[in-house]
Amino acid sequence: MNATDSKTGSPDKKQVLVGDGLIAGYLPGVDILTGVHFELNLGELVGIIGPNGAGKSTLLKAMFGLVPVREGAVRLHGEVITNLAAHSLVEKGVGFVPQTENVFPSLTITENLEMGAYQLPKSQTPDRLDSVIQLFPKLGERAKQRAGLLSGGERQMLAMGRALMMQPEVLLLDEPSAGLSPAYQGEVFENVQSINATGVSIVMVEQNAQRCLRISDRAYVLDNGKNAYEGPGIDLLTDPKVIELYLGTLAKQ
Ligand SMILES: Nc1ncnc2c1ncn2[C@@H]1O[C@H](COP(=O)(O)OP(=O)(O)OP(=O)(O)O)[C@@H](O)[C@H]1O
Ligand SMILES: [Mg+2]
Repeated sequence: MNATDSKTGSPDKKQVLVGDGLIAGYLPGVDILTGVHFELNLGELVGIIGPNGAGKSTLLKAMFGLVPVREGAVRLHGEVITNLAAHSLVEKGVGFVPQTENVFPSLTITENLEMGAYQLPKSQTPDRLDSVIQLFPKLGERAKQRAGLLSGGERQMLAMGRALMMQPEVLLLDEPSAGLSPAYQGEVFENVQSINATGVSIVMVEQNAQRCLRISDRAYVLDNGKNAYEGPGIDLLTDPKVIELYLGTLAKQ
């Protein structure tokens, strides 16, 4: 989806997930995020870009209860969910696809998808499988193959499909296009847009800043554990400061 007034500019925008003044880090006394603000509204696709080590993955993990938040709050529809365990967040409708090791290579595609639904009653699994395969028919064609045989792009598709088994309202994606050829990257971005079009609100961290900004309703630039810039994706894409500091080399591609 592209930025529209109805999604981002209207006064009745509905906040889904908010991170407010987040201070978080892995080791005692070492803050990686030093007061980050973040907001995802209903139906949005929000991008997060920034240099390596800026804290992008840490922000997603902090929102998903995987890195302790020391100050500030994470809210889902206004309910404080700061530092709740990941499985509780999954129950509340938040899905997370980590940057690496996001599929089980020795399990089949079907088994990987079934793992995503482990919190659901078994009777619901077939219906969920059907709907994920409807979205990603390629996963259905290769249902009995081991995930280790998939290409990079197909693996990302499987990782997203697994998160979708729980019918999340919000999906947090950490660098879904990392390490993929440009053609596969295109496929992954199309998949992200298809998921968003089904009504899932998405936060996507991306190295491929240009492509990310092009499809993001809004985006945040993080730098050194802080907010640096934010705005509609298209605006950031053409902002001379953002180009100079964060898109310079990529802009030539
Ligand atoms: N498990 C960890 N334990 C301690 N420090 C960590 C851990 N993971 C990341 N860090 C540190 O946190 C900082 C931010 O890392 P993070 O992975 O959030 O950056 P990033 O923006 O996602 O970078 P990249 O673009 O390389 O994925 C870095 O200084 C990193 O060394
Ligand atoms: Mg990262």
